[in-house]
Amino acid sequence: MKYITTPIYYVNDKPHIGHAYTTLVADIVARTHVLSGEEVFFLAGTDEHGTKIAQAAEKAGKQPQEFTDEIAASFKEAWQNLGIEYNHFIRTTDTDHKKTAQAFLSKLKENDALYEDEYEGLYCNGCETFLHEKDLIDGKCSDHKKEPEVVKEKNWFFKLSEYVEQVKEKIKTDEIIIRPEKFKKEVLSALEQGVPDFSVSRPNVEWGIPLPWDSKQTMYVWVDALINYFSATGWENDLEGPKWPADVHVVGKDIIKFHAIYWPALLLAAGFDIPKSILVNGFFTIDGQKMSKSLGNVIDPNELVDAYGVDGARYLIVSQFPFGQDGDIAQSKFDEKYNADLANGIGNLVQRVSTLIEKFELEKSLEINEEKGDFVSEIWQHFNVFEIFEGITKIQKKIQDTDELLAKEKPWEKEKAEDVKDILQTSAQNIYEIGKALQPIIPETATQILKRFTKGEIIKGEGLFPRK
Ligand code: ME8
Ligand code: MG
Repeated sequence: MKYITTPIYYVNDKPHIGHAYTTLVADIVARTHVLSGEEVFFLAGTDEHGTKIAQAAEKAGKQPQEFTDEIAASFKEAWQNLGIEYNHFIRTTDTDHKKTAQAFLSKLKENDALYEDEYEGLYCNGCETFLHEKDLIDGKCSDHKKEPEVVKEKNWFFKLSEYVEQVKEKIKTDEIIIRPEKFKKEVLSALEQGVPDFSVSRPNVEWGIPLPWDSKQTMYVWVDALINYFSATGWENDLEGPKWPADVHVVGKDIIKFHAIYWPALLLAAGFDIPKSILVNGFFTIDGQKMSKSLGNVIDPNELVDAYGVDGARYLIVSQFPFGQDGDIAQSKFDEKYNADLANGIGNLVQRVSTLIEKFELEKSLEINEEKGDFVSEIWQHFNVFEIFEGITKIQKKIQDTDELLAKEKPWEKEKAEDVKDILQTSAQNIYEIGKALQPIIPETATQILKRFTKGEIIKGEGLFPRK
């Protein structure tokens, strides 16, 4: 069983292409495991408590629950439109999650991992975290470009300092694998510099889960959120739940500290297993600019599906730069890339070869070997380790090679079937393997390709990707 998670996104606003990117990558990896015959538990969800969400609800003139119901539904809808096949969608407002989160906090208290303290600090609502002077640029949060609020309050604190050595050791020895490697180094150097204790509760945040032993305090939203991975396994019914620990947490680099330091430390303190790996994606810009509402370049994944179809949208989102690196999504070149890679690439190859097969009446006389798996397993090995871009690049190369072979042999200039049988045989076999390799990326289209190129009879059908 592979247990794969995505971040649970804040429901202060509708999903955008940044959320779609991380979730799609996780979906591709989950699909690859399923296609390889492994059992998978793929978890998605939404992060619904805290000040940021309460303020967004108020601004919309709604009660927080009503507001979060609407936005959570819009995440589910977007994931459905993008063909994301999660096994479970968790919301931190779910009753089961709330119960587990409270039980988790009680464990921390029982295990003497918490203490009460008077605290004065700078809180950024955007990050939902206390910042320290060194995090600020011109007195502002470097991420949200806003001055943090000065907050003075009594909080329950987590004794992080008692667990950091263990966490450091586990990261060093890859007991918790952090990839790409540069993020492992980044976390280790943060640990070297020292990470202060953090509070697990807030006294003045109403929209949250009450502490079981102090109903005037609600759970700090990041603690509430991280526990989702654990509560989704149905832990409260099954202490030795078969799903936990997670095999892979997929996250963006902005939230690595919470996953690589806070989360393992909390689990160690509560007495549970730690996740096996954390896979970190870089941040992308849109046509070279940071995505932001004021620039008006926030891409809605649903609009992408309307314009390019589910598979076109999936492909355009994940094919543009390697996982883990900061990259650029070239929206201005979407049409161009769609035409080059999909319409004129795989789409044209399938059409061209099936047309020739029909012309020479070879539909029933070519032998597709469906078991031949070297190419497919080479590509899926890339996908298994999150090298989506590298896998796609190799698939594109095989499409080009097949195109070049056809250009060289020119079967369309021949007259007799026996003179074209070999080249069409090779091309059809390549198409079958390309289609199979592409299943995790463009599942609908790949299924069609495999249906049309089977052992029994090769069929010409509709164009796969209409040209833009
Ligand atoms: O942080 N490039 O939620 P969030 C790449 N609720 N990825 C991007 C991106 C971009 N430009 N913009 C967003 C939270 N992302 C918490 C998580 S988990 C227990 C709680 C993706 O709504 C990326 O995965 O702010 C990033 O980590 C995530 O969206 C942040 O989503
Ligand atoms: Mg964020």
